[in-house]
Amino acid sequence: MNKEAIIGVLGAGSMGSGIAQIGATQQHNVVLVDLNSEALAKAEKSLNKILARLVEKEKIDEATAAAIIGRIKFSENINDFADCGVVIEAIVENVDIKRKVFAQLETIVNDKCILASNTSSLSIASIAASCNNSERVIGIHFFNPAPLMPLVEIIPAVQTSDATTTTARALIDGWKKVTVQTKDTPGFIVNRVARPFYGEALRIYEEGVADFATIDWAMTELAGFRMGPFTLMDYIGNDVNYTVTETVFAAFYFDPRYKPSLTQKRHSEAGWYGRKSGRGYFDYSENAINLEPNKDEVLGKQIYKRILAMLINEAVDALFLNIASKEDIDLAMTKGVNYPKGLLAWADEVGLDNVLAKLEDLFNEYGEDRYRPSPLLRRMVKEGKAFYVN
Ligand SMILES: NC(=O)c1ccc[n+]([C@@H]2O[C@H](COP(=O)([O-])OP(=O)(O)OC[C@H]3O[C@@H](n4cnc5c(N)ncnc54)[C@H](O)[C@@H]3O)[C@@H](O)[C@H]2O)c1
Repeated sequence: MNKEAIIGVLGAGSMGSGIAQIGATQQHNVVLVDLNSEALAKAEKSLNKILARLVEKEKIDEATAAAIIGRIKFSENINDFADCGVVIEAIVENVDIKRKVFAQLETIVNDKCILASNTSSLSIASIAASCNNSERVIGIHFFNPAPLMPLVEIIPAVQTSDATTTTARALIDGWKKVTVQTKDTPGFIVNRVARPFYGEALRIYEEGVADFATIDWAMTELAGFRMGPFTLMDYIGNDVNYTVTETVFAAFYFDPRYKPSLTQKRHSEAGWYGRKSGRGYFDYSENAINLEPNKDEVLGKQIYKRILAMLINEAVDALFLNIASKEDIDLAMTKGVNYPKGLLAWADEVGLDNVLAKLEDLFNEYGEDRYRPSPLLRRMVKEGKAFYVN
């Protein structure tokens, strides 16, 4: 798809307006459609503000900023998608609404137009099934904020043609994004593999092993993550993060590995969403005094090794089930959620036998299926293999 292709974006919320900004920055004409005129006006205002800030920081000049905004057509009329090469949908996360919208889109666009969904959690196969030509439907999953986060997950459904996948991936690669291809399974790569970062941290807190500040200290200072789990959950919003966990848990037929936490549920119910509400696990009000971490290195190591073993197990199991290649699984976590290292490369570094031993200790101690090691991890340890070396 060349630069002449018009990019359609449906939904002018935080994701849709970010995707429109990327398309227009990449020289495409963009049609950004939202049924809500207020949402459209807000998107236009916020895009103008973002571009003005880029001019201020001397990242782009004024003429470029004007050209970018000039390439975006803000519209309330879905029929304006008629000449698009691709339409990327970023509306509300509801499968029934998305299915209706895709069926309608198919009656508007030309035969060659690719129809993509930016869904974080819904089945692409189910969305594709609402179209007569389901071969042209695919998942193109950006991360928030879309213009800044390099990763994009490309998700062909069982119905998607190879030609659609190749064209979609080449388009997004051409936008200087890092693409990874993943199977159409709950949470794709990132939202599946990252679950223990939150879930195991919450569990450690619930057992009374350590408080929020101490767990965050262990994960940032000792393990090298940019943000600790509780700071990150407060940043994402406990309501949003809890809903993703609940959705993934249900989608995996209630596999205990993805079980949500009552602590997070209660924080969400209390309205303690995090930064946006002024209070979450931490207090964000002015002059607030938050507890200092207990910087006991022995305790810190115990915490981070437990969470890291769970994360590595999840990454290994995703590879075991052919969700994506080992390179893509590692890229997804470093480029999508800023992990300091790819989890499979990290597994090589700490030794697969050590990871397995940690999981077996947990499994023996708790007797819970949550801690079962991936069969691939067991097999690799038995055969003395590593992911990238030997
Ligand atoms: N926010 C994130 O962090 C994030 C990250 C990746 C993917 N996603 C996914 O992207 C999608 C959009 O998320 P968001 O956070 O931008 O949502 P949002 O609520 O900010 O924006 C959604 C927009 O869609 C519009 N809309 C709703 N129904 C519509 C319809 N039928 N036709 C046209 N417009 C309609 C709304 O008016 C609203 O402006 C969801 O599927 C979400 O799961 C979100």
